Amino acid sequence: MSKKLKFQRITGMHDILPQDQKYFEKIYNTCKSIAEFYGFSKIDTPILEETELFIKGTGDTTDIVQKEMYNLKTKGGDSLTLRPEFTPGVIRAYIEHGMKNLIQPVKLYSYGPVFRYEKPQTGRYRQFYQFNLESIGEKNAVADAQIIQIFYSILSELKFKKLIVKINSIGENRCRSNYKKVFIKYCQSKQSILCSDCKRRLKENPLRILDCKEEKCQKIINDSQIPQIIDYLCEECHAHFKSVLEFLDEIEIPYFLDPYLVRGLDYYTKTTFEIFADNNKNALAGGGRYDNMIKLFGGDDRSAVGGAIGIERIILEMKNLDIKFSETKDSQIFLIQLGELAKKKSLKLLESFRKNKVSVLESFSQDSLKAQLSMANKAGVKYVLILGQKEVLDKTIIIKNMESGQQEIVDIEKVIEKIKKHIK
Ligand code: HAM
Repeated sequence: MSKKLKFQRITGMHDILPQDQKYFEKIYNTCKSIAEFYGFSKIDTPILEETELFIKGTGDTTDIVQKEMYNLKTKGGDSLTLRPEFTPGVIRAYIEHGMKNLIQPVKLYSYGPVFRYEKPQTGRYRQFYQFNLESIGEKNAVADAQIIQIFYSILSELKFKKLIVKINSIGENRCRSNYKKVFIKYCQSKQSILCSDCKRRLKENPLRILDCKEEKCQKIINDSQIPQIIDYLCEECHAHFKSVLEFLDEIEIPYFLDPYLVRGLDYYTKTTFEIFADNNKNALAGGGRYDNMIKLFGGDDRSAVGGAIGIERIILEMKNLDIKFSETKDSQIFLIQLGELAKKKSLKLLESFRKNKVSVLESFSQDSLKAQLSMANKAGVKYVLILGQKEVLDKTIIIKNMESGQQEIVDIEKVIEKIKKHIK
């Protein structure tokens, strides 16, 4: 039996290998260009924040805070946490940098890794990348619709065909408290069936029961007798929700009303949404409105709405659905060098190609013509440049067309100009 490797990656965390980088790049570039089109600017916040920020922001009754945070104590005794999501950090930055004085809404996007100590499974990791949007300082339902529209456009642009947008409104504290009373009463009548987590949730944060994936709890949730939050919305929340739906109708984004969509974060008010590819059980994107966090963090009474998309989940789905995208064209040229003198000259020549923005492959560690030609073949390049001892002395280089087999000898000073014409 082979000996176990001493070091392995941490459970639930993964290396992004060179062959997957193109997915990350493509998805990031798509997200970035659509977000920027809609007036979002990039913000980077630190990966570490004070633990208290997430306890307050994400919410101390959430699974994230109760079970999933990577906490650490610094040598100075500070309690810090690897961000499990972007939202609280972005709101902290909004307040800390006085962004309330800018024209509102302040629209910010972020990209990077987040960390949650979840049970690893397909599409669920402990370190994963999110592209996150926050639109801060806008009460109007148009902002909710725009966030959904952007995620929908990103996924459409990435060639997802059957997208399912689920949407709900969970109201404000005022209307939610009425609903909670009725809901608790209903759940108490089914208490013996609830899973142990939901028995705890019933005391701490009953609405989270609607998010439970346990089969026995699902039975209770799907019972037609269950009270629905939508029937308890106050007039203002009802009007806001209606308005979000009208905006979505206007921009022709199809949606399903999902009365059980409460989402696993404590801060939402009014709109919540998730986007799925086909009938996959893992959401690709999720978000909603959160009108209380800024005040809770000591800022003004400002509204906000946002959402995030999980990059690894998109990649997984792209691969599952066999979605292909046109990659930026790989290099069409391979530089072969034969002999010590040619190797030396090749280094300089390669640098000239880079300065002229022409991408060229090479394998300077190989010496034989056969090995280098076979690499060029594998890479599928159209042209091979051959620099041998004779060519160096003659100040020339050979351009070989790999498709026709034709060769020409050109002045080495003119090779970049020549090859540029060939690959045009
Ligand atoms: P979230 O629903 O927790 O929302 O995460 C957003 C997306 O991140 C999910 O839809 C999914 O694609 C991805 N995701 C979540 N957990 C995992 C995981 N363990 N492994 C892989 N991917 C995952 C938020 O994070 C909110 N901060 C969104 C938001 C912004 N709401 C308002 N503003």
